[in-house]
Amino acid sequence: MRRIGVVAALAAAGLALAACSSGNSGSSGSSGTGTKASQVEVFTWWAAGSEKLALDAMVGVFNKQHPEVKFINGAVAGGAGSAAKDLLQTRLQAKNPPDTFQAHAGKEIADYIAAGQLQDVSNLYDEFGLRNAFPAELLKLLTVDGKIYSVPSDIHRANMVWANPAVLTAAGLDPKATYPKLADWFTALDKVKASGKTALSIATTWTQVQLLENVLLSDLGSDKYIGLWDGKTAWTGSDVGAALADYGKLLSYTNTDRDGLDWPDATQQLIDGKAAFNVMGDWAVAAFTEQKKTAGKDYTYFPMPGTVGVFDFLADSFTLPVGAPHADGAKAWLQTIGSAAGQEAFNKIKGSIPARKDANPKAFSEYQQTAIKSFGQDTIVPSLAHGAATPIAVLTAISDAVSKFGTGSSNAATFQTELAAAVK
Ligand code: BGC
Repeated sequence: MRRIGVVAALAAAGLALAACSSGNSGSSGSSGTGTKASQVEVFTWWAAGSEKLALDAMVGVFNKQHPEVKFINGAVAGGAGSAAKDLLQTRLQAKNPPDTFQAHAGKEIADYIAAGQLQDVSNLYDEFGLRNAFPAELLKLLTVDGKIYSVPSDIHRANMVWANPAVLTAAGLDPKATYPKLADWFTALDKVKASGKTALSIATTWTQVQLLENVLLSDLGSDKYIGLWDGKTAWTGSDVGAALADYGKLLSYTNTDRDGLDWPDATQQLIDGKAAFNVMGDWAVAAFTEQKKTAGKDYTYFPMPGTVGVFDFLADSFTLPVGAPHADGAKAWLQTIGSAAGQEAFNKIKGSIPARKDANPKAFSEYQQTAIKSFGQDTIVPSLAHGAATPIAVLTAISDAVSKFGTGSSNAATFQTELAAAVK
């Protein structure tokens, strides 16, 4: 049974707004919105490396579909939106929104909707023929009171371990081994550590938050993990305490320069043979591919120990902010985002799977085919680090607690207390 535990089922029976069948250059009557279609500022955090290559691929399709609209790249560097989201908030509050911005499906986008910062784009779903293009569970995560507020571009999986087989072999490990539980993995991590390499590469705070979510998922299981976000699992419990102890143990296997790095650096340590394992979302596969690394030979992958059969879910989507200066440009962008051609070109490079249901799995890499299969059959749980599970303020408070713990400014007990307070 597939399940998204992120939102309570929202009224699915919202009335579709009358379709507006004007072309891309037609002006919309949306309130507070400009009508110049000459350009579109697209705000993302896909600023460099494989993420920029994927964005470039989407822009290539956009330029073909909408040659009349100039693409303006508003990308702000920093993995997981670590810098972009703050800047975006400043711009939204100053009523200076970009024409469209990247937002995660689930609680993150719900924040922007609740703040009245987004326009309902349900009419575009009718205009572009998107009503049945996406999984219903995904659309629920973009919908409030029957109104849909964004168009999803991709689906990522956050509970993957990536490994360097040569480093594992040199440490006396079977590079094909997988590890049913964290306890099994610790034994392997010890061996790598003894070989003198970094056992587990990691980067700055948000990647540590993502590691924490993986440990919670592994130790608690999907039901209790979902309970952490809907109040059914107590953060103060001894099971959470044991998971936090495992998290602390995992940190002891990581590179000490972690806080100064972003995810591509941690992945690079693995590629360069300095580290054996890395826990990262499947945008990592895009970095391997960018550097012409071959799955099975140069790198291997498996779900985080203890999470086989679970898909830790996140999705990027694009919005139409209230007051967007070039609303028609934004609509043209949303059309490309939702199109089969745009999704295929982008996701092939991004490492994600298309949000559209009609994509041909054969067009995608070996890893992506496993993700498509897994998304179709696994239990789906919401990612913490990537906006699916909690509102932005909760994630910020959790990130502060994670940073304190990681830098030695708090002990395990304080860490647990702070996490419990963050989620309240
Ligand atoms: C986004 C991905 C991105 C990753 C690393 C996530 O929050 O959803 O698209 O690749 O951050 O920057």
